[in-house]
Amino acid sequence: MWNGTLESSEASKQSIRPENFEERKQGKTLERVLIVEDEVHARTGLTELIESWGYTAVGAADGVEGLEKTASWKPAIVVTDLKMPRMDGMGLLERIAELPEHVAVVMMTAQGSIESAVEAMRKGAFDYVPKPVDPGRLRTILQNASLQHIDAVSEAPGTTKRPREMGSLGPLVGTSQKMREIFALIERIAPTNVSVLVTGESGTGKELVARALHEFSSRRSKPFVAVNCAAIPETLIESEIFGHEKGAFTGALERRAGCFELAEEGTLLLDEIGEMPAATQAKLLRVLEDRKLRRLGSKAEMPVDVRVVAATNKDPETAVAAGELRSDLYYRLNVFNIQMPPLREHMEDIEPIAHKMIADMNERHGCSVTGIQPALLKRMLAYQWPGNVRELRNTIERATIMASSGLLGIEHLPPNFGEAGFSPSMPKGGRLGEGSMSEVERYLEDQNTVRVEVGTTVDEAERQLILKTLTATHNNKTKAAEILGISSKTLQNKLKEYSSNPALVD
Ligand SMILES: Nc1ncnc2c1ncn2[C@@H]1O[C@H](COP(=O)(O)OP(=O)(O)OP(=O)(O)O)[C@@H](O)[C@H]1O
Ligand SMILES: [Mg+2]
Repeated sequence: MWNGTLESSEASKQSIRPENFEERKQGKTLERVLIVEDEVHARTGLTELIESWGYTAVGAADGVEGLEKTASWKPAIVVTDLKMPRMDGMGLLERIAELPEHVAVVMMTAQGSIESAVEAMRKGAFDYVPKPVDPGRLRTILQNASLQHIDAVSEAPGTTKRPREMGSLGPLVGTSQKMREIFALIERIAPTNVSVLVTGESGTGKELVARALHEFSSRRSKPFVAVNCAAIPETLIESEIFGHEKGAFTGALERRAGCFELAEEGTLLLDEIGEMPAATQAKLLRVLEDRKLRRLGSKAEMPVDVRVVAATNKDPETAVAAGELRSDLYYRLNVFNIQMPPLREHMEDIEPIAHKMIADMNERHGCSVTGIQPALLKRMLAYQWPGNVRELRNTIERATIMASSGLLGIEHLPPNFGEAGFSPSMPKGGRLGEGSMSEVERYLEDQNTVRVEVGTTVDEAERQLILKTLTATHNNKTKAAEILGISSKTLQNKLKEYSSNPALVD
């Protein structure tokens, strides 16, 4: 698997992709598919159906024959039944996983037998399809499996399967054993379509993991949509997630696409899943099972092709026991669980994460901080970080702005940092990056208070506020407009006004 920026990965892939990559991606030249099924009518029926979609399809009567044909005929995709004489589907899956070449395995499971589907996915199946097979669903799965296969073969060993850059995976930084295990798991499951449940305390990087799963999958060029179930009023959540037709309920003035539709062919992060009302959880489960969606107020169902990642900062088993999370939904989402450790359990990552954040903050705030003084590092290592990486990030952001250049020292920490009674501000905007904004706002407010005497005009007060905010943001106008709560255009106009009247600029 690769690491590094998306751009560099794309660039390196371009050069080694098969010549007809784009055509194959568009489905003009389709892959070989092997159908392993002991029931002869089902086998020939499926073979013909798959051939009618333009693939080259061949049948095998059981796992043993399936394995032989996989080795000799080299299909890109194997669609296999589960229960078969001689070698069953699970056995075949395990043997295929030992082969050197990439093969996407799609498991056909009995209706309602989630357990075997989950087991197959854990063993490395690309996807599963319940029997009787829904042709539409199978076709979508084959298309996705083909794309994944093309990606996999174009990343041939020794070419783009670059060793992972030490200490990071996409946006995630960490050199500890715990983080390395998480990186390996993300790399392994990102290319599949399985649902993933990401758990961990607030600020541990759950959303970053969801983004990494998206970035490292063939869905990366499609949307990544994050929805915070806790932030949406109960009455609106279904419409937010599933969409609605005009007139579906009072106030539904227009037809509206839900998050599933917005994330079509991409990844949907359902954050704070335990906060989702029980009725919505039941509907979500149905969408995940059937991969079909019905907007509120609509009779028609539409197919959905979305990879779902759910996140929660609660212990999911406790949430299930408390009746907050439906057990069937939990089971369906928890095919893979990525457990993010609290920062206090991987303190050795504080230094590399802090360095990455200094680089980010230098860029963001126009600073030139070069590192961390040993005394500060020692202090940071002695602290428990209840707000986890988010708190570390806020602390580094504040310190970087304070120091502006040189090394960060203890004097750049908030007052009373780490002392008894110190209550860290852990703003949590819910969305990436927002949390730290309010920390910056608050900090700037402290540092650059505008004192306005009674008798000052509103225009003058506004001018002072704007100029001070610009100074505090190192003349970053976008940032200043954001902090001031005005549009960039308004800010530009005000500045133009001040500059045309030099008396107004201090
Ligand atoms: N391993 C990491 N490397 C670099 N940055 C990280 C890492 N983990 C988290 N962060 C940063 O910490 C902040 C919080 O991360 P994130 O939003 O993913 O946490 P979360 O677990 O989803 O929190 P919450 O439960 O509060 O929603 C983000 O700014 C993110 O970029
Ligand atoms: Mg989050």
